[in-house]
Amino acid sequence: MNTLLLKDNEKDIEKAGEILAKGGLVGIPTETVYGLAANALDGKAVEKVFKAKGRPMDNPLIVHIQDIGDIEKFNLVSEFSGKAKALAEKFWPGPLTIIMPKGKAIPDEVSAGLDTVAIRLPEHQVARKIIKAANTPLAAPSANISGSPSPTSVKHVLSDLDGRIDAVLDGGHSRVGLESTVITVATEKPRLLRPGGVTLEQLESVVGEVDVDEAVFNKLGENVRASSPGMKYKHYAPRASVILLVGSDSAYRDYVNSHADYHVAALCYDSDISGLTVTTFSMGSKEDYSTQAHKLFSSLRKIDKEERITVVYARCPEPRGLGMAVYNRLIRAAGFEVRNLEEV
Ligand code: TXA
Ligand code: MG
Repeated sequence: MNTLLLKDNEKDIEKAGEILAKGGLVGIPTETVYGLAANALDGKAVEKVFKAKGRPMDNPLIVHIQDIGDIEKFNLVSEFSGKAKALAEKFWPGPLTIIMPKGKAIPDEVSAGLDTVAIRLPEHQVARKIIKAANTPLAAPSANISGSPSPTSVKHVLSDLDGRIDAVLDGGHSRVGLESTVITVATEKPRLLRPGGVTLEQLESVVGEVDVDEAVFNKLGENVRASSPGMKYKHYAPRASVILLVGSDSAYRDYVNSHADYHVAALCYDSDISGLTVTTFSMGSKEDYSTQAHKLFSSLRKIDKEERITVVYARCPEPRGLGMAVYNRLIRAAGFEVRNLEEV
């Protein structure tokens, strides 16, 4: 299959909509990461998404809409509760996915057999225009091969999926750089399943106390049922081993320098660079979580391209605000390998 490269203009947006309406697959830009979209109401089209990504069929997809009214218009949920509405009104369009009891129109392929469905109204104008052109909600996971870092540019999408999808539309670099926040309101108390661009603090300001699922920070045991199936897979895994180092600036510098060799790299902050004797990849400044989020996945992809690098010592942000999302992705990239430098 020849993958069409589409641009951000009316004609190409129409073309993307046409391909999707006919059951094809299109990589679409969003403000979080690029999505691999298919008609969410067409089980056969959705099945192709799983095949193209090599994604396990038991991991459900997010349904993307272009207007809140799409929820009722397309029968996407069976109950749009007060809490869900309050969250939607406050944070949509934006990087928030809300899980609700699923409606009749949702095929089993989308919800992976669960009785709930994940819905998101993206902020990216081009994403919304494509959904409108397709005239149907779009199921879209991140547009990467399962297990590799999520794509934040069209180049990343093509490096994973060229030849496996019908088209990709170039809408520039994703602003947030990490996938959306996922919250469920299908439980008695709202529960955060994945941290992202909308923070825990922001969610709690709208719906009161929100539980944080244990899979946000911890590795799930073999036989534990995940609230969000995506949490049980090793995600965002670069080829090299990533090890998170927790400790002061000087403890980090000393540890990395004493382990320096040709195969080692540092995923660090701007202020660390001058003190380190290994190749560095900076995530930005220490307190600037939004730059860290924006740069994390592209840094992991850059590291992947350097064949000699087999070990990456990464700094670890505080898990608060947007730092919680960066921390959550990093511990997964590290396969939960965290070393506390005060204890070594
Ligand atoms: O920012 C994003 O959310 C991007 C863009 C493209 O919108 N999409 C994305 O999709 O990250 P994906 O498939 O990579 O991640 C969706 C996550 C998975 O962890 C999945 O298990 C969870 O949402 N999920 C989807 N439906 C669910 C449901 N009904 N119940 C629990 N978790 C669900
Ligand atoms: Mg993904």
